[in-house]
Amino acid sequence: MNREFELVDKLEYAHSLDFDEWVYLLNNQSEELRNYAGNKADTLRKKYYGNSVYVRGLIEFTNYCKNDCYYCGIRHGNANATRYRLTKEDIMSCCKEGYELGFRTFVLQGGEDPYYTDERICDIVKSIKELYGDCAVTLSIGEKSYDSYKAYFDAGADRYLLRHETADDCHYRKLHPETMSLDNRKQCLFNLKEIGYQVGAGFMVGSPYQTKESLAKDMLFLNELKPHMVGIGPFITHHDTPFKDKENGTLEETLLLLSLVRLMLPDVLLPSTTALGTIHPLGREKGIKAGANVVMPNLSPGEVRENYLLYDNKICTGDESAQCKVCLQKRMESIGYKIETKRGDHISRQ
Ligand code: 5AD
Ligand code: FES
Repeated sequence: MNREFELVDKLEYAHSLDFDEWVYLLNNQSEELRNYAGNKADTLRKKYYGNSVYVRGLIEFTNYCKNDCYYCGIRHGNANATRYRLTKEDIMSCCKEGYELGFRTFVLQGGEDPYYTDERICDIVKSIKELYGDCAVTLSIGEKSYDSYKAYFDAGADRYLLRHETADDCHYRKLHPETMSLDNRKQCLFNLKEIGYQVGAGFMVGSPYQTKESLAKDMLFLNELKPHMVGIGPFITHHDTPFKDKENGTLEETLLLLSLVRLMLPDVLLPSTTALGTIHPLGREKGIKAGANVVMPNLSPGEVRENYLLYDNKICTGDESAQCKVCLQKRMESIGYKIETKRGDHISRQ
């Protein structure tokens, strides 16, 4: 058997590889290898989660951002973005609609927008938890201080998503301006874990200047952090960013990485992302079959959806929340999986 297949076997039983092994594996991708890893990953996710797919209602509540990440369509420097903020009332009505559709997790995602002070975030989290005590609240609002994270947690937030984006210093510098640092981002993730959140890290596949070595570092970092959730999607260009002429990440490599993450962290919560559904019409279905077990339909109000554009051609911008739910339900059923509407905590927290 070729070495790359042996490495997948090793990952399956030892749940870790060293740097050189990762680089070798990632340099020897093929359709056979993807299928091999994909089948093992699917078997493993079924062992922990059966054929259930958890749903999270995504509320994109602000596209203002003080950061200038070179890949992102809502970066501060993009003067062409039409900016919006949802009021607390808007957010509450998204939750109401989501609750009625059966969602028991709300993900509040936004740019790093100073308008939403800690006080405002805590107030919103508390109000959601008061009305919907059986729901989990996930925040995805970027890098904050330990004390801010603690305050949101004490207000009732359960989970936090903060993709590390790349665990390679050199690569990090090519994706972000000098004002941001990988060390700080990693520190944020460790802080979130220490406070008690269920934590999600992650990265884009095929982002500009990414190498197999940087992906190897991503895998090693994930194995060190041991997050509860991992968000992985292909990089997709946005026409108003410095990376407008770069290549997109591929479906194939994203699927392989989803499978490898499943084999490394067997019980991790792993979304099949909107970005994956954007680069291929059946991307999300393929992601689930490759080992993912979460989908995140959009709950944002119709009027603002087309303004939360991190990348070009994003799907679901013209659909209503109810349509997205039915659509995803059908898509999951078409491949033999079913939408599970309970909170869907990580196994260690159930
Ligand atoms: N393509 C794909 N994903 C992107 N993100 C930001 N910009 C892009 C892009 N152009 C991802 C980042 C971020 C998450 C919310 O969206 O990884 O953490
Ligand atoms: Fe939104 Fe399919 S999930 S239309």
